[in-house]
Amino acid sequence: MQTVTAATWLMAVICATSASAADSFHPEIPKTWDDAEIGAVEIPLSHPEYSPKHISGQFYYRMPVRPIYQSYPVYRPDREPPGYLDWLARREPRLVWDASKLRTREDWIRAGELVFEAPIAYGPIGVGPAHSEELYVRSRSWYERVRPALSSDGVLPFVRYVVREKGKVELGVFACALCHTRVLPDGSAIKGGPGNFPFDAAFAEDIETETRSVTENRRLLEALYWKPWAPSEVSSKLKPLDAKDLAALLAGRPAGVLTRHRLSLDTPVQIPDLIGVEHRAYLDHTGLQLHRSIGDLMRYAALNQGGDDFASFAGFVPLAHFLGGQKLTPEAGDRYSDEQLYALALYLYSLRPPANPNHANEQTRRGGRVFASQGCANCHPAPLYTNNKLTPAVGFRVPEEHRRRYNILPVVVGTDPEATMETRRGTGYYKVPSLLGLWYRAPLGHGGWVSTLEEWFDPKRLNDNYVPTGFTPPHRKHGPVTGHEFGLNVSTEDKAALIAFLRTL
Ligand code: HEC
Ligand code: HEC
Repeated sequence: MQTVTAATWLMAVICATSASAADSFHPEIPKTWDDAEIGAVEIPLSHPEYSPKHISGQFYYRMPVRPIYQSYPVYRPDREPPGYLDWLARREPRLVWDASKLRTREDWIRAGELVFEAPIAYGPIGVGPAHSEELYVRSRSWYERVRPALSSDGVLPFVRYVVREKGKVELGVFACALCHTRVLPDGSAIKGGPGNFPFDAAFAEDIETETRSVTENRRLLEALYWKPWAPSEVSSKLKPLDAKDLAALLAGRPAGVLTRHRLSLDTPVQIPDLIGVEHRAYLDHTGLQLHRSIGDLMRYAALNQGGDDFASFAGFVPLAHFLGGQKLTPEAGDRYSDEQLYALALYLYSLRPPANPNHANEQTRRGGRVFASQGCANCHPAPLYTNNKLTPAVGFRVPEEHRRRYNILPVVVGTDPEATMETRRGTGYYKVPSLLGLWYRAPLGHGGWVSTLEEWFDPKRLNDNYVPTGFTPPHRKHGPVTGHEFGLNVSTEDKAALIAFLRTL
């Protein structure tokens, strides 16, 4: 009897243990900076000899891990609760990241949201030795000049206040959320949506008002946007300019496009929607990075949030250039931990789009038929509305080995080639984007030159004297928005139906 009871008890314990094992989640966390994987994750640049050589894993893992502090919302001053800043100043610094407490997949996803929102720099938008202590997000003139959208509760959802030291309230910037949050017209803030913080306008403000010297500002812009195959082109343009002129290069750029590092000053790109990223085979408009696994998304975040600043582009090392040619040590940077990156990637994979207010009706069904008859589905097939392929840009000769290694559709769509032919993100390709979520996305095209679907499908945009309504490159105040001539020549009714259909996706 005794033994039976003991055996039953033992069984019960085993069952209980295995039940809790089924509940909990056993993450298999890939190594982010595996040398072989990092070496193969980017496709070669259109100037292949300038493709980056990244730092070694040994170097990378000696960089300090970014601590994640409790953070607080930033209100526009007139919407701020009374006494808010004083209340913040009385908060204790508190670290909120603790991977040892994460049990279930949901725990990891919630932790990933913390990483998504966690600032990686404090104070100014421009990096480096500027030391503004002033909270510019509390100045009225900053809002007048930058014109950021606010969520309905008066919050500026792109940035957070952080207390790293008691009594000192800092502005935390450069979280994923800075660039990848979209405020919709109804005032809801969609995390991971196609971002609409007017980053370039804020950067212009920063260049003009921060305490960096003109030389430092110039070196910053060179580090971000230099093409090492034609260095004098950028430098000679920047040389005669003072802070005000440098700022003017970026001021006035619309929300929704952003001159990310490794692009060129004249080729900001549309900020992509991260909702649905799980199903995309290539990352970036130029398809620069492969996305074969969750590890690759972790690598994307590591590379783009500091890692690729250390790379050598045939001898040009952006961070070293910015620091005036200094030899770099791991302490010159910092990094996310692999656990943070894994949680972040799970969070991105969990994102779902906001409810679409546009429903199917007679007109959208007609639009669906136009979509089929115009051959859109050859490149944008349901359910993802992308074939996940790369298309060569005007003027790019596809190397033979690319045909074996990458998924290429040998059709030239004919959009402006500069971003992919003349930048350090340029591969010679543009990927076929997904059309899901088009209803909340603008501006359109890789460069965001047009601002509505009506404009995208308007044949007038091909005219020489056309003035685009989205981002307009400074060297072409007018001129055609070339390429992607699909769907331009259908009847007015069919076009309206096609657009109505696209807004339901
Ligand atoms: C300073 C603004 C900025 C920050 C901060 C930022 N991104 Fe981005 N991100 C961009 C821009 C701009 C692009 C488009 C680049 C391109 O296509 O060349 C992009 C592209 C991406 C893509 C590729 C998506 C696709 O479909 O092609 C992913 C994934 C991504 N970002 C994730 C992140 C994550 C995760 C973080 C935080 C760890 C982050 N980003 C931080 C601006 C930013
Ligand atoms: C041969 C392949 C191909 C065909 C056919 C095609 N597209 Fe595209 N589409 C692309 C590529 C590539 C891009 C990105 C171009 C760029 O940004 O440089 C794109 C971009 C778009 C965009 C802009 C998306 C955004 O987020 O900016 C829309 C909208 C679009 N296509 C709709 C359509 C419709 C509707 C049809 C049919 C009338 C169609 N496409 C036919 C390849 C194609």
